[in-house]
Amino acid sequence: MTKLLKIHKRSEMHKLYIAAEVIKNGGIVAFPTETVYGLGANALDKKAIDRIFKVKKRAKNDPIIVHVASINQCKKICYFNVIAKKLAEKFWPGPLTLVLKKKKCVPENVTAGLQTIAVRMPSNEIALNLIKLSNVPIGAPSANLFGKPSATTAKHVIEDFYGKIDIIIDSGKTRIGVESTVVDARKKPLTILRPGGLTKERIKKVIGDVILHDSVLEMGETEILSPGMYKRHYAPKAKMIVVEGKKERVIKKIKELQKKFESKKIGIIAFRKGCYKGNVKVLGTNTKEVARNLFEVLREFDKENVDIIISECYHTRGLGLAITNRLKRASGFNIIKV
Ligand code: TXA
Ligand code: MG
Repeated sequence: MTKLLKIHKRSEMHKLYIAAEVIKNGGIVAFPTETVYGLGANALDKKAIDRIFKVKKRAKNDPIIVHVASINQCKKICYFNVIAKKLAEKFWPGPLTLVLKKKKCVPENVTAGLQTIAVRMPSNEIALNLIKLSNVPIGAPSANLFGKPSATTAKHVIEDFYGKIDIIIDSGKTRIGVESTVVDARKKPLTILRPGGLTKERIKKVIGDVILHDSVLEMGETEILSPGMYKRHYAPKAKMIVVEGKKERVIKKIKELQKKFESKKIGIIAFRKGCYKGNVKVLGTNTKEVARNLFEVLREFDKENVDIIISECYHTRGLGLAITNRLKRASGFNIIKV
């Protein structure tokens, strides 16, 4: 049985005691963060983490982010360096995940056998309070079945995990909608492994030079640091094509593709209204809206059983970098450049 806990107001926060007990006892709780929903368990409990891998059908070699409620708690599980201190002081709590050298107390399944660990302090109050009340660091991947679009509402979590985990906390739609920015903080220059809710521009202002791992916008030639960087990810069931280039050319190409695949059920992802006929979903009129709606729209197309999703590409400024990365990865880098 999965228990649903609705927390929409401060006055409902007391319900978190039940969830914290579950975490302490080795159970699994799906909870909101400011980015996406997470599937959480005690990060120091090997069995509980094993259960997460199983229920999520996650590859054993894909490490999990550990969520903390204070820098002191974080220092117990990893070696916090000067770069990490600077970034954490500026951006925690918030959508930034730091990859650092791990300490021995962390079970090896959490980090998939790596000597590094990904840590983050979420800013969502429910998430923070859950960690505080549980009094343990919480290991939590995004609350979606492995490889599928992330969950930005409790409804999405219910679709994937109802009956399979102990508790699902429902606090509505998450604020940001794309996952945290993952950076390798072990040395300078800092490398962004996965762009996310915290923009490269903001990190740059604090830390100076920042490199993008070459898997962020292209297929990537260099060695992947973790299998979470696998090619097709956040993927809908449908085949997906991303069309990249100048506005007019993109529109022309997408119309051509609509004709070419006439006999199929097509879904179009666009960023302004009125450009196409058919089943078109406009993600939003500004970057924040687009980020917030992205995964939901991928899930909607899945429900409609479309055969092909054809998407306009997005820009790479600010939060746009994370959006473009998710679109390209959802397509398995099936990109047409025009
Ligand atoms: O916003 C988020 O980050 C959400 C919420 C729940 O916090 N979590 C999330 O977790 O997106 P997940 O498991 O879906 O993605 C974790 C990413 C993966 O790309 C994984 O490969 C990477 O973090 N990662 C974890 N540990 C790592 C490590 N030691 N080195 C490099 N990458 C790591
Ligand atoms: Mg994920």
